[in-house]
Amino acid sequence: MRSSLHPRPARRPRPRSRTRSRLVALFTGVAAVGVLLAAGTTARAADAPLRDLAEARGKVIGTAVTGSKLTGTYGDLAGGQFNSLTPGNAMKWETVEPSRGSYDWGEADRIVAFAQAHDQQVRGHTLVWHSQNPGWLTDGSWTADQLSTLLQDHITTEVTRYKGELAAWDVVNEPFNEDGTYRTSLWYQGLGSDYIARALTWAHAADPDAKLYINDYNVEGVNAKSTALYDLVKSLKERGVPIDGVGLQAHLILGLVPSTLQQNIERFAALGVDVAVTELDIRMQLPSTDAKLAQQAADYRAVMNACVAVSRCAGVTVWGFTDSDSWIPDVFDGYGAATPYDANYVPKPAYGAIATALGGTSTPPTGDCTAAYSVANEWNTGFTGQVTISCSGAALSSWKVSWDYGAGQRITQAWNATCAQSGTTVTCSNASYNGTVPSGGSVTFGFNGTWSGSNPVPAVTLG
Ligand code: XIL
Repeated sequence: MRSSLHPRPARRPRPRSRTRSRLVALFTGVAAVGVLLAAGTTARAADAPLRDLAEARGKVIGTAVTGSKLTGTYGDLAGGQFNSLTPGNAMKWETVEPSRGSYDWGEADRIVAFAQAHDQQVRGHTLVWHSQNPGWLTDGSWTADQLSTLLQDHITTEVTRYKGELAAWDVVNEPFNEDGTYRTSLWYQGLGSDYIARALTWAHAADPDAKLYINDYNVEGVNAKSTALYDLVKSLKERGVPIDGVGLQAHLILGLVPSTLQQNIERFAALGVDVAVTELDIRMQLPSTDAKLAQQAADYRAVMNACVAVSRCAGVTVWGFTDSDSWIPDVFDGYGAATPYDANYVPKPAYGAIATALGGTSTPPTGDCTAAYSVANEWNTGFTGQVTISCSGAALSSWKVSWDYGAGQRITQAWNATCAQSGTTVTCSNASYNGTVPSGGSVTFGFNGTWSGSNPVPAVTLG
């Protein structure tokens, strides 16, 4: 897959691993869960993992990750659903060189190893930025020459460490102000705008195969900032500076996907560079509601469609795939729910939108959730029964079970579910408060009924 998405020689070519095959089998089930939409229709997540859908279209579907979380359900989804990982913080300067000359590659190495074990690309993030730099660097006072040497050493050390292993690097992050002037970062102040060309040149020297990007936010639509970026890329190309792509971070607000997104991607593509959506999240004011989640799905779909429509759009990376691993609530007061999975790893309507934009189909839930019927108590003409719905690798956001009473039983009363009987068929669906069955969890509801003759346990169907 790596070669089909980013043709480049891999330093350590790996066969498709057994782990991966197991994950595919598992996630065929995980993805196939129901998602309740505002209109009352039930959308089903696609039956194939997002990464398989994306691969079939030659696109990247990536996620930012936290290295320490790559186990359990988080690891299963990160490895099973995405074909690219971006370290959320692990490759930033303050993380890799917290004190001068002393390096900590632990989290970055872990993410790269995980990606290789799961046949995924890695997008390096980021080498030159005004933020998340170590104190020793920002507090020092440096001559221009010293600053230039520091930057060259940093880029050379980090890019060389992962040479041949990363598909792309966000070499320069957030160089512009909103009005299109250069941000007065430590780099701009010390070296002028030429720090950008130098950084790209040094990165290229250290890993000539990695795709080198400039990455920024609020450059998704056509505006002053994206036009400044456009002019920069154009002049870098004209000067022969190695620049392969433009990253549109896309930290978006609900309902505000720029209408010029595709047009903007197209104008960059026409310069002869790739475009990637690198940090997509779509935040809403909390609490989330069904209507907001439906709008969010439409917004995710719009972003996906714009990328799918342009062949030079390499793909889309979400900035965290679960609301439990999103930077939004920490930084934007009162906002959250910005990613495709909720905090319990239940896919939101946005997940289905990504899947369908990548050509996924809709199938009913099957997967790793089961329903078990038992008779809890029985007396001369009546009985109490219960059904427990349990999920292992998968999760549900709503559920419905049905069974057939072949021996003439009749339901008279139910709790923790809404039940109806028509002829011999009983159908029960979740109450308003117990639709969610998390991975590794269960929900039980109960009922009373009448019987005569015999009271056998029926076969229960989930879905
Ligand atoms: C964010 C991380 O997600 C947070 O964990 C961290 O505290 C701050 O940085 N633009 C970028 C990313 O390029 O590196 C930022 O990541 C989000 C905005």
